[in-house]
Amino acid sequence: MKKKKEDYSDLNAQQPIGIFDSGVGGLTVAREIKRMLPQENLVYFGDTKHLPYGEKSREAIVGYATRIATFLLEKNCKAIVIACNSATANALKEVIELVDGRVPVIDVINPVAEKVAFEIHTNVGVIATKATVYSGLYRKSIRKHNKFIKVVELATPMLVPAIEEGFRNHPITHAIIYNYLSNNKLKNIETLILGCTHYPLLINEIKQFYGNRVRVIDSPGIVVTELKQILDKHQLLNTGNKSPEYEFYVSDITRNFEKISKKIFGNAIVLNLKVL
Ligand code: DGL
Repeated sequence: MKKKKEDYSDLNAQQPIGIFDSGVGGLTVAREIKRMLPQENLVYFGDTKHLPYGEKSREAIVGYATRIATFLLEKNCKAIVIACNSATANALKEVIELVDGRVPVIDVINPVAEKVAFEIHTNVGVIATKATVYSGLYRKSIRKHNKFIKVVELATPMLVPAIEEGFRNHPITHAIIYNYLSNNKLKNIETLILGCTHYPLLINEIKQFYGNRVRVIDSPGIVVTELKQILDKHQLLNTGNKSPEYEFYVSDITRNFEKISKKIFGNAIVLNLKVL
């Protein structure tokens, strides 16, 4: 990928961080930003009208992701976090091209792949949407750093609809998890990457399935650590802000989005309808 010239001299720390996903998944990254960087202002875009991205073509995902990135630049964001694996796997290059070095772009696959590549294990599993698995990006990115790690990727497409329908802690979701994780492909794994930002919402159920046999990676923590380092490096960390502002946009207002976003950010937040 051609590296763009980065010029962040016009940016300032008070500008918000822009973050997007197809739906509630990116809220797991936004929640981590709120926890690790509590003074940052945020603009979140949830493309609920077009989810699941995992079932869409590359062309469609590129269209959604570049329109949302344009919107976040118009909202004066100082960084863009692609809090969606499907969008990262299919549209990262196009988003970087569009942004053209004006703000940092942080994705959810490369920082995780890099970290996992340098840990001690030989068999790593990835569960993700079809759009992410078909791209093979996790495998390529991990093996770019470490050729001795075997990476198996499994598409688990029923999890996003189950989460978006609000079936957490529900027998339906338990059955889906059991079915997917019992797949022979994952038999020998020592580490599991949740390759979809929706899945941390089911982390307890997934950990329950494995007991202590398999380590489940905390991707939002790794992604926000990377975001923090980049902002810090460019003196863009917001440190003097006592009342951070959280702005939410969704392309369709769903009850589930309302419920989860309010649970994380408080009842006072407003969901603005915005179709791009
Ligand atoms: N949360 C997204 C991901 O990380 C997208 C899920 C979907 O819309 O299919 O892949």
